[in-house]
Amino acid sequence: MRKPFISANWKMNKTVGETGEFINSFLPMVKDVTDVDMLIAPPFTSLHAASRLLKDTGVKLGAQNVFYEEKGAFTGEISPAMLLSAGCSCVIIGHSERRQYFMETDEIVNRKIKTARENGLEVILCIGESLNEREENRTFEVLDRQLSGSLKDINLDAMTIAYEPIWAIGTGKTATKEQANEAHAYIRGWLKKNREGADTLRILYGGSVTPENVAALMSEPEVDGALVGGASLKPDSFAKIVKGARKQ
Ligand code: 13P
Repeated sequence: MRKPFISANWKMNKTVGETGEFINSFLPMVKDVTDVDMLIAPPFTSLHAASRLLKDTGVKLGAQNVFYEEKGAFTGEISPAMLLSAGCSCVIIGHSERRQYFMETDEIVNRKIKTARENGLEVILCIGESLNEREENRTFEVLDRQLSGSLKDINLDAMTIAYEPIWAIGTGKTATKEQANEAHAYIRGWLKKNREGADTLRILYGGSVTPENVAALMSEPEVDGALVGGASLKPDSFAKIVKGARKQ
């Protein structure tokens, strides 16, 4: 059985001070949770402070992005070695906001995953279709293209996939549990056909996950966890999501 995995993607939210306040109030709320893996991905500027507070707890630290070169003249970018030295073990790559606002292509995502993994970082790869693409019945075609492009020459070691339909992100319009399960099943089917180790890989759902809807989503066999934006910004809301993710 795949262990549930709940991740917080804070996006461009929280200063260093706010990060500390969150973690100090969140940790006691989840101190007895051992049956759900937890990860928090704050902005780069909060990573080092967060890593000190999360040390020796069950909560892992992730970054929201990374560059595909190891070092050099790339003003404003952050390397995998920098993330590791700040205490990260994981990085989110290919989020739709990065694809949309920062022109990240599947090829760039592929390069980022390669460099991150060569340096020993775990990766959460985000994929998902837009509203237009879903309405035109092109969801599977889009997933297929994103998987083959992003995972070109990459095995499934230390990988997690997050299915995040763009129309569900930040809109309050969650995919139904059936829609999520159907997309996850398609993704797992693609991985089984093309890679080793697809049975143990975890597929997270992302898009307007809340304490109220997490249990229903998790009741689906192919939903192994969630990547949570807005509802991960308050400690009690995120703790409720973690607890609601326990498989019954
Ligand atoms: P929301 O939970 O705010 O919809 O964001 C989802 C997301 O993009 C997580 O990466």
